[in-house]
Amino acid sequence: MKLVVFGSTGMGGSAVVAKALERGHDVTVLARSQTSADKAPHGVRVVRGDALDPAAVERTLDGTDAVIQYLGVGGLGDGKPNDLVPDATRVIIEKMRERGIERLVCASNMGLPGSGAVLFRRVLVPLFARRLPPILDAKVAMEAQLEASELAWTAVRLPALKAVSDKGTVKVDASGRATGYSITCGDAADFMLDIIERSQHLRAAVGIAN
Ligand SMILES: NC(=O)c1ccc[n+]([C@@H]2O[C@H](COP(=O)([O-])OP(=O)(O)OC[C@H]3O[C@@H](n4cnc5c(N)ncnc54)[C@H](OP(=O)(O)O)[C@@H]3O)[C@@H](O)[C@H]2O)c1
Repeated sequence: MKLVVFGSTGMGGSAVVAKALERGHDVTVLARSQTSADKAPHGVRVVRGDALDPAAVERTLDGTDAVIQYLGVGGLGDGKPNDLVPDATRVIIEKMRERGIERLVCASNMGLPGSGAVLFRRVLVPLFARRLPPILDAKVAMEAQLEASELAWTAVRLPALKAVSDKGTVKVDASGRATGYSITCGDAADFMLDIIERSQHLRAAVGIAN
């Protein structure tokens, strides 16, 4: 399958690229700097440009079957509102629609309204992750764009990503509720690739954790 990964150098996206190559997929990434382009593993097609630039997104999508959007603002960001994710998602949706590409999987977050995780939202975030709310707001906007689109989308609501060995099992909630507080980058990547290969969780937000 031909896959595009946006956010390919990030903690989550780099694991998707590695797993996709292991599975024999053709992978294309968008790199906004030469440093990011140089991080692409051998065999990956690299397009240079920014995810907010429609022309760059269009070039990246050329000939693809499915798209994984794993963009982020760098960790928890600076705690200020940031529209990168919803703005880039709007561009990606628009260009996918124009090109007749249907499958889009986006990284989202546990803690969105409707995802349960009351202890997380009301206690842990205010105490330990005060910079997270703008990131959650951005994902609310992103998920609204997905719902309004006609694409075969999935929003994967992630807990904290851990760069440790895979556990090989993932707890899934098909209604988007949180199922735990962490997941390995590799298990999250395998889940995203599995649901693309099996056409699962279409037009839904899904909660995953180890
Ligand atoms: N990390 C976690 O524990 C965690 C947990 C739950 C949810 N998530 C969500 O998962 C997503 C990714 O998180 P992460 O930690 O893997 O991200 P990250 O390490 O911050 O990486 C962000 C990625 O987005 C790319 N990017 C940012 N702005 C871009 C632009 N304008 N054009 C093109 N590429 C751009 C970066 O490319 P460069 O190489 O150019 O910087 C990088 O590849 C985020 O939405 C985050 O909220 C993460």
